Amino acid sequence: MAEVILDKVRKVFPGNVVAVAETSLKIEDQEFVVLVGPSGCGKTTTLRMIAGLEEITDGTISIGDKVVNDIPPKDRDIAMVFQNYALYPHKTVFQNMAFALQLRRFPKAEIKQRVHEAAKILGIEELMERRPSALSGGQRQRVAVGRAIVRQPKVFLFDEPLSNLDAKMRVEMRAELKRLHQRLKTTMVYVTHDQVEAMTLGDRVVIMEGGYIKQVGTPLEVYDFPENKFVAGFIGTPPMNFFSGNLQSQQGSLYFRKGSSMLIKLPDHYKQAMESKGPDAAVILGVRPENVLEPEKRPDLAKDTTFKARIDVIEPLGAEMILYLTAENSIFLARVDAHCRAQVGEVLSFAMHPDHMHVFDPNNGKNLTVAAAQKYLRG
Ligand SMILES: Nc1ncnc2c1ncn2[C@@H]1O[C@H](COP(=O)(O)OP(=O)(O)OP(=O)(O)O)[C@@H](O)[C@H]1O
Ligand SMILES: [Mg+2]
Repeated sequence: MAEVILDKVRKVFPGNVVAVAETSLKIEDQEFVVLVGPSGCGKTTTLRMIAGLEEITDGTISIGDKVVNDIPPKDRDIAMVFQNYALYPHKTVFQNMAFALQLRRFPKAEIKQRVHEAAKILGIEELMERRPSALSGGQRQRVAVGRAIVRQPKVFLFDEPLSNLDAKMRVEMRAELKRLHQRLKTTMVYVTHDQVEAMTLGDRVVIMEGGYIKQVGTPLEVYDFPENKFVAGFIGTPPMNFFSGNLQSQQGSLYFRKGSSMLIKLPDHYKQAMESKGPDAAVILGVRPENVLEPEKRPDLAKDTTFKARIDVIEPLGAEMILYLTAENSIFLARVDAHCRAQVGEVLSFAMHPDHMHVFDPNNGKNLTVAAAQKYLRG
């Protein structure tokens, strides 16, 4: 068992810099958890506290039901892969991979066997006698991972291990890491600021901002049901569109109103969640670009959510098209069919998918309708 449990963990650096505010998180045995968030949100600090490289200000960390607060890094049975790989330049690939085992006085034969096994998994058997300077970025990255694998740790910790690679290599290594996890079945904690990487790799994703966890969930949960505006805007490319406006009640129905031309009916199952809000309360409406519809294609859905928008820019992407639009001084994006006949400068009707609208509180960013949406869509 190698679950990792953070219980009310906090990290304050000298100068009263709160890198990680009180954080509790349970990472299951064999789970692949990705910590994601913008620069400075506390990802590396969290990982380094799990590794034992950073002292904890408050709280406890357990690995495999043992509190490790006072256990030094080398005795925590974890292996960490850093962004810069930190390979020894004067050692060969074999020596780099074998080094940690030699330090722990493993028998020669076992070292050899473990290194070759790891090399085989990673496809670097041909490189054993090379030095890091004679390797490509991707190859170095594999060696760094190999060095972690040979230890057969209880937990792998990765800190942005792919960020030095070019885009294509990153996508390849991403798939490789996923295969590796399926094969090794070891608990993995992975840090990245790239939300696509987080979504594709993680069994669960932990979204952080300014030292706080903003949401924890499976990739689809955090995408479909973001608990706050930060998560809604951070996960997804292009990001979710936001419109500032007001609520309006009319003949028993609830509407979102912005300016004189946008009057969007909110689903009836949102009414209860909005009851605490005044009749004219300021709110932010969120809708993802793929849920901005062309009304003529889905008249059934568009019935009560249609509005006019001007097309500013068209980005043809092959399989689809991104439209940059303006309505009531709000710029927003739509992801539409590649064959959409829209032209720049035209004013056309668009609509919002009634099942995929989110209403946020402008004061605290809370998603007011997430529970109602979840109940409605998931039963
Ligand atoms: N040794 C330190 N002393 C003081 N402040 C620190 C120290 N290390 C990190 N911090 C601060 O703690 C906060 C969190 O830093 P951390 O390195 O965990 O961020 P991160 O999420 O990994 O960011 P990035 O994506 O840029 O790597 C930042 O505000 C950073 O400036
Ligand atoms: Mg970092």
